[in-house]
This record gives sequence, C-alpha cells and structure tokens, in this order.
Amino acid sequence: MKKVSRILATAILALSLIALTGCGGGETANKEEAAKSTANESKVVNLYTDRHYDTDEALYKIFTEQTGIKVNVVKGKSDELIERLKREGKDTQADLLITADVGRLHKAKIDGLFQAVSSEILTNSVPENYRDPDNQWFGLTVRARVIAYAKDRVDPAKIAAYDDLTKPEWKGKILVRSSSNIYNQSLLASFIDINGEEKAKAWAKGVLANMARRPEGGDTDQMIAVAAGQGDLAITNTYYYGRLLASDNPEEKKVAESLGLIFPDQNGAGTHINISGIGLTKDAKNKETAIQFMEFLSSEKAQKQFSENNHEFPVNPKVEMSELLKSWGDFKTQNIKLAKLGELNSHAVKIYDEIGWR
Ligand SMILES: [Fe+2]
Repeated sequence: MKKVSRILATAILALSLIALTGCGGGETANKEEAAKSTANESKVVNLYTDRHYDTDEALYKIFTEQTGIKVNVVKGKSDELIERLKREGKDTQADLLITADVGRLHKAKIDGLFQAVSSEILTNSVPENYRDPDNQWFGLTVRARVIAYAKDRVDPAKIAAYDDLTKPEWKGKILVRSSSNIYNQSLLASFIDINGEEKAKAWAKGVLANMARRPEGGDTDQMIAVAAGQGDLAITNTYYYGRLLASDNPEEKKVAESLGLIFPDQNGAGTHINISGIGLTKDAKNKETAIQFMEFLSSEKAQKQFSENNHEFPVNPKVEMSELLKSWGDFKTQNIKLAKLGELNSHAVKIYDEIGWR
C-alpha cells in the first residue's frame, strides 16, 4: 500500500513538473528533469518569474548545488503571470513570484496573491524601504530610471532635472517607451507623490510634446534610436545601459559608448529608483524551500551576481557594487516610500490616458 502511494506521488509530481515547465523546452527534457528531481526526495521550489537573464539561471543552479532543492521555473510576461496566479487560485503550483517593479508587486499583494513571510535573514538583508510594510514582498535588486544622451550632440549640463525634458528646446528629441509600461507608470507615480497631480500631469504633457516618435519598443530600443540619430535623449533603466555596454555584440557596445547617463534631480528630489522583487504565494505548497530560496537571493553571494552580471544595484547594503555601478558614482535617490508607487499607479495611468501618451 505504502509503495503504491509512493509511486502515485512520484507520478503526480512528475506530471505537475511537466505541466509547470511545459511552456518552455521539449517534453522529453522535462520528463528527464522530473525523474531526476523525484530521486531527490521531492525537495523543490516552483517559481514564476518575468526575469529572463543568464544571471538568474546561474543563481538557480548555485542554490540547487548548495541545498539539493530543485528550482522549477516558469518564465512569462509579468502581467500574464499575475493573471495566471489569480486564475489558478489555491491550486497553483507556484510557490514564488518574481517580478520587476514595485507597482506590480503591490498589485499582486492587493490581489491577495502573496502571504507574509517572517524571516530575520530577509529583514536583515533587505532594508525597510525595499520591502512591503507587511512583509508580503521583498526587493531583490534596485534600478534607477535615468536619461541617456547622445554624447556628440548634447551638453549634459543642460539636463539636470526630469523637468528639463519638458523644455521646448528638446522638441522632437525625446525617446521613451509606452505609458502602458509599468516603469513609466511608477516614474509618474513618484512625481505625483513628490509634486502633486497637477505638476505630474504637466510633466507628462511636456514630455509627450517633445517626443521624437510615437512610443514603441523597450528601453533598449530607445537608446538604439538615439544612437541612430532619431533623437537626442532616451529615458531608460540603468541596467539596460549596463547590458549594452557589457554586450559581446560590438554593435550594441557601440550604442552604449555613444551615450552618456544623467542621474536627474540631484539638486532636487533625487533620481527615481525602483526594484524587482519576490513574494511567497498565498497557497505555496513548498513554503519552507521557498523561504530558503528567498533568503538565498538576498544573500551577499546572490546579490553580488545581480550587481556584477546584470548591472542592477544590490538591495543588500553589505554587498559591494560592481566596478561599472561604482563608476556611475553615488547619487541621491527619491526619498519616498516605494510602496507608495503601487498605491498611486492608477492615478498615473489616468493621467497618461487623459493626455494621450500611449
Ligand atoms: Fe526591465
């Protein structure tokens, strides 16, 4: 009887692993992986993530080597993963969700997808402002939203503030992605928090009036467009610039080398920062291994990798930054509660809709 139930449990686990990894590679590989994992007394953690970086893959591997816990990964677009978690409800296989931007982490919390985690390791590694006040999500990496400029055409002294982007002299010169993107929503949410709705709206209007083209593509595409002469200034997250600069592709490297970075509002409210982060799902089946994995990602070893290999700022203050990040120098950041960006998200979306920044 015991043997039968064990075989059954193994079969169920194998099946669920196939389902979980099904959106990725071939089924044969999945079956092999599943078989390997069942040999390991079913110590697993199941992760939904919108991150698609080699750094992350390497970290999963290190974690498995250290603990024997297998990391099963479903990659997808963040909003789709959040919808999927909602749809799957308590039957979800996912123990953890990793997603970029506090706006999304907040949304997942409000949607009731997370549960609080009480871990001294996490609260010691992740400073208060980089985690949810109720400990339902924890930041893993920090990024700044900055301005990249064409070195051969722009005097960086002319742009000290985000507000400078609204000046008439930049008409037809600014490249920025769609307002449907959470990074731009959080950026505007930060201005709402700091300056109020009216001023935030005036900023969005001013930038819209100066756009070089209708928004298309991601942050990297905006930098490529500036390098190609389609405009002079691009709004981008720092790690995209870092990735171009460190690229093996000489064309990409050339793009970054033609650009400089401005960390805006150093004499004002500070540069906008955001996080990518992680939360334990409400009905996580592997709670213990999941928390172990969260703690691992906040550890100095993992944090160093995020900094060295993906050019994101570590959340863990004990971790030394990579040479590239250090080369950007210290900068003043907006002094606002990050959770506020999530709360103000709908206000930001409304403003973008009203003014017609698509
Ligand atoms: Fe990103």
